Amino acid sequence: MRKQIAAANWKMNCTLQQAEELLTKLSTATVNTTENKISIIGVPAPYLLLAKDKLKNKANFYIAAQNCYTKKSGAFTGEISAEMLHSMQITHVIIGHSERREYFNESNTTLAEKVNIALEYALTPIFCCGEALEIREANNQNSFVENQLKESLFHLSVEQILQVVIAYEPIWAIGTGKTASNEQAQEMHQHIRNVLANKYGKEIAEQISILYGGSVKGSNAADLFAQNDVDGGLVGGASLNAEEFTTIINAL
Ligand code: PGA
Repeated sequence: MRKQIAAANWKMNCTLQQAEELLTKLSTATVNTTENKISIIGVPAPYLLLAKDKLKNKANFYIAAQNCYTKKSGAFTGEISAEMLHSMQITHVIIGHSERREYFNESNTTLAEKVNIALEYALTPIFCCGEALEIREANNQNSFVENQLKESLFHLSVEQILQVVIAYEPIWAIGTGKTASNEQAQEMHQHIRNVLANKYGKEIAEQISILYGGSVKGSNAADLFAQNDVDGGLVGGASLNAEEFTTIINAL
């Protein structure tokens, strides 16, 4: 059975005091998580250990970094290595968010390297893919996303791909308040699963969690998560509010 996941992506938000407050609220929230219904909190790097500590007694909660560098270690000022994350017992890392692709020029090839190093250090990559508005308007979203998966993931072995979580995040829905419809989300998720099945076989594809991201809120999460191939969400804005995010977790 594949995991259902409510993942938070705080992005570059929160002062230390705000982060403490939000984590404290999450630590006491009433959530229906299980071994197969989990929550992953993607916090800014300076708060990783704080988040780990605050949520240490919260069952089925994991902490994610929002990025890691392609290299093991060395003279790369300002970067964060997968080895560092591993040494802090961080379990997940978001790779290839569209904001990283756009503002930091991360290409599919670079992201393949990041996925590799994450896996090397036993981190679960939450690999993001998704098309811009003009690609959808030209009805090229399926081949565009397929290419992102091929170029960044398809060198992986069966054992490795089973460690990856995929997040489909149409760029036009991120932070815009404009959510993909349930049908649009399901259609793309099914496409992604078919693409994975063609490469790795149906049985493997069925085990990979595919999250939807882009203006997920407490009010639309349950309908989105009810779609056959939508295994949860990667949530930006709404994850900064503990009550709202708790509703989203409980919609799994
Ligand atoms: P949003 O962001 O929920 O604020 O649209 C989602 C994301 O970028 O991961």
